[in-house]
Amino acid sequence: MEDILTTPISQTALAHFEARLQNDEKIEPKDWMPEAYRKTVLRQMMQHAHSEVIGMQPEGNWVLRAPSLRAKKILLAKIQDEGGHGLYLYSAAETLGMDRTEMIQLLHEQKAKYSSIFNYPALTWADIGAIGWLVDGAAIVNQVSLQRTSYGPYARAMVRICKEESFHQRQGYEIMATMMKGTPEQQAMAQDAMNRWWWPSLMMFGPHDADSPHTEQSMEWKIKRESNDRLRQKFIDKTIDQAYVIGLTIPDKDLKFNEETKSYSIGPINWDEFWSVVKGNGPCNKQRMTHHIKYHEEGRWVREALEAFAKKQIEMN
Ligand code: 3HC
Repeated sequence: MEDILTTPISQTALAHFEARLQNDEKIEPKDWMPEAYRKTVLRQMMQHAHSEVIGMQPEGNWVLRAPSLRAKKILLAKIQDEGGHGLYLYSAAETLGMDRTEMIQLLHEQKAKYSSIFNYPALTWADIGAIGWLVDGAAIVNQVSLQRTSYGPYARAMVRICKEESFHQRQGYEIMATMMKGTPEQQAMAQDAMNRWWWPSLMMFGPHDADSPHTEQSMEWKIKRESNDRLRQKFIDKTIDQAYVIGLTIPDKDLKFNEETKSYSIGPINWDEFWSVVKGNGPCNKQRMTHHIKYHEEGRWVREALEAFAKKQIEMN
């Protein structure tokens, strides 16, 4: 097929598209956009939506084991939010021309990803605190930046989602702070969760910019407004002091505070672990996918009933 970007009409369309980006205008579903832009935004939004839904699994395992009714209600509210974020993002991603059925098929065929962080097990109640505080804390840093992304439906979805994420991060931090004021066993449990979730939370931001195949183009298209490393550093600088305030130790013997730049430098991230998890060899990859496929199949009758009802409604009108 002739390259769509070389025909004269598209050169004009491309120049117009780039001028709009320069003006920080939002690209809307019905606007002309380069096919490569559409594909990149769709890939990122689809994987973001998958992450929100798969992310419900580690926390769902703790609803029946929450230590109080209050804790159970908060966790239920958070999990429900995550499901809603997933549906919101699927709807926004569908404006780019792919139905969520196909997106979920790609997930099940492992041709679409979800965030590596959700392939780690939630072993104790303190993990629920660490997930809320660190994982949602990292997600907030990323998603606040994405509120300025160039694709309109994605930016607007982020504004709505960020409002709920701040509650998620705070409730997680409250769990960790409460445990750090508790018995020595509870303090040890919180520190153990910190030790297991700190580095995987840093990996959420993706590979270093120099190793990221998408960042440069995504920054040019203003899909990403800040790079992986820039967002990771923001999260580090924001979170380490929160840990110190409640008495947690950062599991990084190379950690240093730079008085000049007023920011922290960290030890090396284990990228072998990261890519191994991304490639499907994390502690919970198989469990997460088996669970998702099982319950997606179990829900098939609901989707079919709704489709039949909608079809009937159309026939009757
Ligand atoms: N987990 C899994 N895959 C990852 C990853 C991670 N943490 N980080 C990067 N990758 C993948 C990318 O998807 C890409 O693979 P692909 O080409 O097959 O899609 C490859 O590694 C190269 O990485 P890049 O950095 O070049 O890719 P991106 O430009 O897409 O950047 C990203 C990665 C920073 C995660 C970006 O996609 C992004 O900002 N996504 C939106 C935010 C998001 O998805 N967050 C996930 C967590 S959602 C969440 O935490 C919900 C909260 O409520 C708990």
